[in-house]
Amino acid sequence: MNKLIDKFGRQITYLRISITEHCNFKCFYCRDDEHIPNCKREDILSYEDIQKIVRIFSELGISKVRLTGGEPLLRRGIVKIANLISSIPGITDMPLSTNAQLLEKFAPKLYANGVNRVNISIDSLIPARFKEITRGGNVHEVINGIDAAIKAGMHPIKINAVAMRGINDDEIESLIDFAIKKGIDIRFIETMPIGAAGIKSFTQHMSEKDILARIEKHLKGRLTPIIPSQTDGPASNYKINNTNSSVGVISAVSNHFCQACNRIRLTAKGELILCLGQEDSISLKDAVRSDLSDNEIKQLIVNAINKKPEKHEFNSSIDNISNRQMVEIGG
Ligand code: GTP
Ligand code: 5AD
Ligand code: SF4
Repeated sequence: MNKLIDKFGRQITYLRISITEHCNFKCFYCRDDEHIPNCKREDILSYEDIQKIVRIFSELGISKVRLTGGEPLLRRGIVKIANLISSIPGITDMPLSTNAQLLEKFAPKLYANGVNRVNISIDSLIPARFKEITRGGNVHEVINGIDAAIKAGMHPIKINAVAMRGINDDEIESLIDFAIKKGIDIRFIETMPIGAAGIKSFTQHMSEKDILARIEKHLKGRLTPIIPSQTDGPASNYKINNTNSSVGVISAVSNHFCQACNRIRLTAKGELILCLGQEDSISLKDAVRSDLSDNEIKQLIVNAINKKPEKHEFNSSIDNISNRQMVEIGG
């Protein structure tokens, strides 16, 4: 029992851990304005719980652990959590997904404690528009966070921009130019109908095909496709010739990459989510806090992986879509 292979033959090597449900932004496609995380301290996985769960997963072949939220930098002890996870043998990649509002202060400490790279969400470079999308965010602070990550030595650094028709689609070109100027990578994400906020904003969905057409027009003849490596996420990426940057599209809806899915998610409350778009989950919190042996916990995980759905159902039926808010899942 040393590998996690589901019933479709997919090996799971990538665990995304949400370490807090709190966020300092309220991006309208991610969470409802009135959504308030409802969790007591004891409901949230402790350092020890997280350390034990990741150790067990690493013994089952997980090598990549991504820290997500909400906004992971709001979790007190984030640096300690990073240190504990990155010290576990077998964990070779420990990126962080953040909105970067607080990254300027944290970047050097995180890098020193094993966060080798970051993915940063930024949907607009126009301060008033950024504030509107995030319902309160400050784009200058986010850019300072990006600069701090570059300075700290994190690599690669990827910008995630959710592409939304009528909201920020006129910035596809300027966001690409921004990434090129900074020497970092950029991916555009299709909006996904997850949770009430995601479903409501799905009317602004822009397809991979339309996003790619805009990218190609802007970068005429300057794109070379990148062959994905095994641990890569779901983006299709292109090197932008004669720059240090790449551009990609995460076609989470129109062209789903489920047949190559290698990931599972753990919420801050210890629920193991088997597919981003579906309800299926099991609780690991009680298991790690009980007197179950490591082998018994491994068996629980193996049984859960056997139930991993084949694919999301975003295209076929809204009824099957998870009701969780994206802010609880961490993307
Ligand atoms: P890398 O390891 O850097 O390639 O990152 P990643 O793309 O796995 O992580 P990131 O947190 O940057 O994810 C970006 C976005 O991709 C997420 O917010 C989701 O919108 C989307 N995404 C990630 N994993 C999945 C998945 O399993 N299914 C779907 N449909 N979308 C996903
Ligand atoms: N559709 C697509 N991406 C989303 N994210 C949050 N909500 C949605 C949604 N409904 C993205 C954020 C961030 C990542 C963690 O998840 O923009 O880049
Ligand atoms: Fe917070 Fe990220 Fe959701 Fe925006 S997308 S509300 S920054 S978790």
